[in-house]
Amino acid sequence: MCGIVGYIGPKKPGEVLINGLKRLDYRGYDSAGVAVSSENEIYLQKKKGRIGDLSEKDIPIGKSGIGHTRWATHGRPSDHNAHPFIDCRGEIAIVHNGIIDNFSSIKEELINNGHEFTSETDSEVIVHLLEENYDGDFLEAFKKTVTRINGSYAILAIHKDSNELLVSRNQSPMVIGVGDQENLVASDAPALLEHTKNVKYLQDGDIARITEDNIEIWNENDELIERETKKIEWDAEDAEKGGYEHFMLKEIFEQPKAIHESILGRLTDFNELDLSQYNLDAVQFIACGTSAHAGFVGKYIFEKIAKIPCTLEFSSEYRHSSPSDSYPLTILLSQSGETLDTIAAAREANRRGNDTLAITNVLDSSITREVDDVMYTQAGPEIGVAATKTFTTQVVMLYLLAVEMGIERNVLSKDQADKYRDELRRLPRKVETILNDKEKIKELTESLSKADDIFFVGRNINYPVALEGALKLKEIAYIHAAGYPAGELKHGPFALLTENTPVIAIAVKDQTFEKMLGNIGEIAARDSPVIVVGDQDKELEKLADENYFIPEVPPLFSPLLVNVVLQLISYYTAYRLDRDIDKPRNLAKSVTVE
Ligand code: G6P
Repeated sequence: MCGIVGYIGPKKPGEVLINGLKRLDYRGYDSAGVAVSSENEIYLQKKKGRIGDLSEKDIPIGKSGIGHTRWATHGRPSDHNAHPFIDCRGEIAIVHNGIIDNFSSIKEELINNGHEFTSETDSEVIVHLLEENYDGDFLEAFKKTVTRINGSYAILAIHKDSNELLVSRNQSPMVIGVGDQENLVASDAPALLEHTKNVKYLQDGDIARITEDNIEIWNENDELIERETKKIEWDAEDAEKGGYEHFMLKEIFEQPKAIHESILGRLTDFNELDLSQYNLDAVQFIACGTSAHAGFVGKYIFEKIAKIPCTLEFSSEYRHSSPSDSYPLTILLSQSGETLDTIAAAREANRRGNDTLAITNVLDSSITREVDDVMYTQAGPEIGVAATKTFTTQVVMLYLLAVEMGIERNVLSKDQADKYRDELRRLPRKVETILNDKEKIKELTESLSKADDIFFVGRNINYPVALEGALKLKEIAYIHAAGYPAGELKHGPFALLTENTPVIAIAVKDQTFEKMLGNIGEIAARDSPVIVVGDQDKELEKLADENYFIPEVPPLFSPLLVNVVLQLISYYTAYRLDRDIDKPRNLAKSVTVE
């Protein structure tokens, strides 16, 4: 989704802004622009297209500047609709992330007052409101403007005559980078890391005034307050490709480390969590996209290990569902912690009186302020739009949590708990074995890259993995794919099976294995090419056209291994098709609109 960078200090703003925007380009965007306050004028350059289309050499030297990458919501991608926006007199420039709910009424009022709009965006009202409210005091005008707008926003503004960056946020992330005789601000930390690792996270309702050597923050009640400076543990290199052709491949290969660190990191999390305070009779997982699939795997894990009945809901649906009489523990999963639907679902769960626990990968992200407790996955920054290592670490957290809950509910002995944990500790090695087989997995994708439709089928705990496999392929290879419980194919999709419809069948040796063999036989009888991913088996070898057998693992822990194979299948299929793997068309890394 849109990215924001701001800089004030002695360096060339053009260089800092463009480099910063490049670090945010994984969020997905369709246009980019910068504005710099230079010699009492605002210089503006913005374009539909890539950040690289901006001409850095034309950006003048100046004290401060703001930059933006846009992901269209109101108004199509175009030069006019790109940010920054400047006011009619050319004195003020702003960039905005989010959506201004009441923009139409404000726009009408401003047009009546003589303001001329140059775009179809909701964001442009902000700069005209600032112009309207300005009478020599930029901060006052900014505060007045912010009180007029409703919706979600992160706003960054500069004025040609004042040496400061003004910032505000509501439901859209904003982080200040604290430097030495220079300061920065950005919608996401990777844009700052090259310059500083010391950051202050703004909270909803905050307004900040940032100069070269000072940062002042007012809270939603207009009280001057301090926000703690925190140190980011990642290096700028963690957000680099490190020799891999794509971030996605790098992140797939980081999974052994990410699993290992998530298991280590759990100790501090569990020390802080007091499970006895929760209602553990029922659990509800709520999330979007890949995080929802992690929650769906979690349902099987929790039911098996902790014997807790679970449900899964998409965040966007949960908010509009009818409340029930029960008060399940609500576990919200969000890699970014910024997905607006999931944040709104957290608020709704609280309103319904449920205990709420968030599992997220981003320190201090918005969701952490909406819930009773937080657990952090230790995946490190994930840049590829398609989630990989964060799914894996979310599922690892769910195994660990299920074990703790099983103990808390007296349904799991200490011995059994230790066995489960040992099994988890063995996973990184097994994932490495799969990664070492990447060439073999790549071979499976030759026929897949020629297909228009592909089915993924699984049963039991691997049914959600089939859904995730299909999602990944759609996201990055742009091939239509559907995930199904294997037993359901005969209730409709059979009509679509031909020799041109490959089926990827997940078959592990759990209680559904015999049935799965039957399902694969039925698919093969319809001439569809079958690729089996699962446990080594002679019968499977005979039935499948192609196969990849995972290292030996108890069925309950098979989803993570199978999923790594499916990630590589999607990656290499998309690779053969020369897709924009890290930034698939029309998709964004974090979706901060409803
Ligand atoms: C977007 C991303 C997906 C992600 C989903 C949920 O659609 O492209 O990869 O799974 O949002 O994001 P979250 O940050 O809440 O896990």
